[in-house]
Amino acid sequence: PPSFHQIQQESPVPTPLPEPKTLTYPPQTPITKQTPFQLPTQVLSFSYSDQHELEFTDSALRYFVGPPLGAKLGYGYDRWVRKPDTRGRIDALLRAIGKAKEDSKKRGMVEGVGVVCWRGVMTRILTAPYEDRDGWEMNVMLVNGTLYFEEHLSDEKLKDKNNMAPRQRLQTYYGYAFESYCTSETQTRRSSSSPSYPDAPFGWSGDVNTNVQWCSVVRTKLGDTRMIIGGEVDCVRGKYTGKTDSFVELKTSMTIRGAQDEARFEKKLLKFYFQSFLLGVPEIFVGFRTPAGVVITTQSFKTMELPRLVRGKPGAWDPLVCLAWGHRFLTFLRDVVQQQGNTPVWRAKFVPGSGATVRRLDEDDVVDVVGGEERVGFLPRWYWEEART
Ligand code: A3P
Ligand code: MG
Ligand code: MG
Repeated sequence: PPSFHQIQQESPVPTPLPEPKTLTYPPQTPITKQTPFQLPTQVLSFSYSDQHELEFTDSALRYFVGPPLGAKLGYGYDRWVRKPDTRGRIDALLRAIGKAKEDSKKRGMVEGVGVVCWRGVMTRILTAPYEDRDGWEMNVMLVNGTLYFEEHLSDEKLKDKNNMAPRQRLQTYYGYAFESYCTSETQTRRSSSSPSYPDAPFGWSGDVNTNVQWCSVVRTKLGDTRMIIGGEVDCVRGKYTGKTDSFVELKTSMTIRGAQDEARFEKKLLKFYFQSFLLGVPEIFVGFRTPAGVVITTQSFKTMELPRLVRGKPGAWDPLVCLAWGHRFLTFLRDVVQQQGNTPVWRAKFVPGSGATVRRLDEDDVVDVVGGEERVGFLPRWYWEEART
């Protein structure tokens, strides 16, 4: 039976469908009041194995050791083990929350939260005021006062992601190869090269398998909304202590050769900034590469200093604009979706230059977000059963 009817048996979906609501915005709304953001604290960490199985261990944690200059990022491309691109479910994050609830010392950290989502979704929300190209959609549920967001990819976008043009795929690989050169499974780099590939270049720490990921789940607060956010952390510097202050985000970017390149890079820093800021990652280590994937120089940035670095520049942005917008957006969403029970699924859509809309999905729409009997909307049933009361 279609799972939507199952949902109706549980608790009737209110009818008729409400009208979609719109939040327009002049992209850079003047800020009347600063929106406070609380520094994130880590709740727990987990790993994905080389088969992309979730483990509550730090097996996928990597240590920063720095790349050799001249590193060739095309190395090992034909051996890349790719994680298939699938819809961005939040199951692993919910399992992490379930795990934290079992721990009397951590339970309090995951209670009373207003928003649960992956870091990538929150980055997209917060950077929207400066986004002039890529729109996005996400699915939203409100269960017992907590908003859950998952990325929504249309079938078409999902297909594009899995059928990337060869050139684009190689460039994506460069980013992962950079991670291999920069990190080690141990705190110091092993002196010999990878044993399975005796011809591996200096500094190569092993072939790329994008199934392997180390993730951190943090608790933070935007305005008066407490949030649980999870995301991948590339590596740590020195000892890992369970705090975020040793975390390092790795990035590659094309070398900067002129004013136009520089402005483009400054613009890109906005995404680097929020991506790192949201998980409390204090350092962003960038490898500048040639078009052919050779690392020419590297530079380390302090996440907290980026706003000052771009201020007054051609590619400037202001994080306060983003936080103010984010706060408005979350308030708007909550206002629209509340008092509609614990089961409906909503779709929020952002269109650059015009704003955000939210509508409740009806029976036909909802089909591509539910996953059969074991789900309610897009949430796993086991989680929903526990969360709704
Ligand atoms: P670069 O960031 O060096 O380009 P992350 O930087 O978030 O840790 O991601 C690691 C790499 O994954 C990126 O390296 C990039 O190659 C790839 N990647 C991440 N997000 C992507 C996206 N939205 N589209 C294409 N590739 C992406
Ligand atoms: Mg990463
Ligand atoms: Mg990275």
